[in-house]
Amino acid sequence: MTIQWYPGHMHKAQKEIKQALHKVDLIIEVVDARIPFSSSNPVIAQLSDFKGLNRPVIKLINKTDLADPNVTELWCDYFEQQQGVKALPVSALQPADLKKLSSLARKLVPGKAAREEAISAMIMGIPNVGKSTIINVLSGRKIAKVGNEPAVTQRQQRIDLLDGLVLFDTPGILWPKIENRNSSYRLAISGAIKDTVLDYDDIAFYLIDFLVAHYSQLLNSQYQLEQLPEETIEIVEAIGKKRGCLKAGGRVDLDKVSKIIINEYRAATLGRVSLETPTMLETESAEVEARVQTKLVEKRARKQKFKKKR
Ligand code: G4P
Repeated sequence: MTIQWYPGHMHKAQKEIKQALHKVDLIIEVVDARIPFSSSNPVIAQLSDFKGLNRPVIKLINKTDLADPNVTELWCDYFEQQQGVKALPVSALQPADLKKLSSLARKLVPGKAAREEAISAMIMGIPNVGKSTIINVLSGRKIAKVGNEPAVTQRQQRIDLLDGLVLFDTPGILWPKIENRNSSYRLAISGAIKDTVLDYDDIAFYLIDFLVAHYSQLLNSQYQLEQLPEETIEIVEAIGKKRGCLKAGGRVDLDKVSKIIINEYRAATLGRVSLETPTMLETESAEVEARVQTKLVEKRARKQKFKKKR
């Protein structure tokens, strides 16, 4: 599965963000605790250092209620090793978690905090990480979403919080190009990519393989499978039979059971499962880098061949 979703309006949003960065003291990036790397945006890492502005970044690791707590801890350590980055694990469903945000912001901008001046932060995150929910909880009211969709014209908005924090909300930007195919799958499984562009069988099979490798006990207990069959298709079919997803003639309806598997993952009915760890990310990044280099070499070779021919 390859996903390249980078509509022009997001490019425009990126430009606007760069301009707005001058007005703020720090950046809050909301990520999904189940996929903290895949839901991070590399553009934001570049933006934080935009023209040497060096804005501190708070990685707000949201939806911790859905993620494996041990893995979330690993991610917090991982992010905090990056310069100027502080990690804050939260669940928007637990407002007490979010109360820690403004005190952390004050720590990161001590000068303004000491003068009791308002601290301004740009809050961003790719679609579905829970940014709007967080803003609503923090502000205590329902704020209209900024435009993740081309049809939504509203772009940036200012939200004054009672505790001296001013948020500038920006549209969600998805990766310009997702080089890591695992990230594409994880974004799809988590719900960050619109279901209309998804092939459910494909992503459910990926999820099952991942669960077999990392959370086989949860898989067994959720679907009451006494023994896990060898092949992914056999596991999906076994689940299909358990869930009554049968077509006329008794064959398993793969599309139907795949949707059930994905939805049960999203609702965490099978337990708290994280889809990536820092170690996995390091291995994958090295593979991606090697693939990108190979492509570059091949491209150069093709160019030279073409030149020679001419
Ligand atoms: P966005 O602005 O980043 O695009 O995300 P949004 O707040 O719309 O949240 C996306 C979905 O994630 C929503 O569910 C929301 O309720 C859910 N969500 C947000 N934060 C958390 C969290 O910490 N834990 C859990 N479990 N869910 C969270 P939805 O089903 O799409 O919408 P709704 O049914 O809640 O309206």
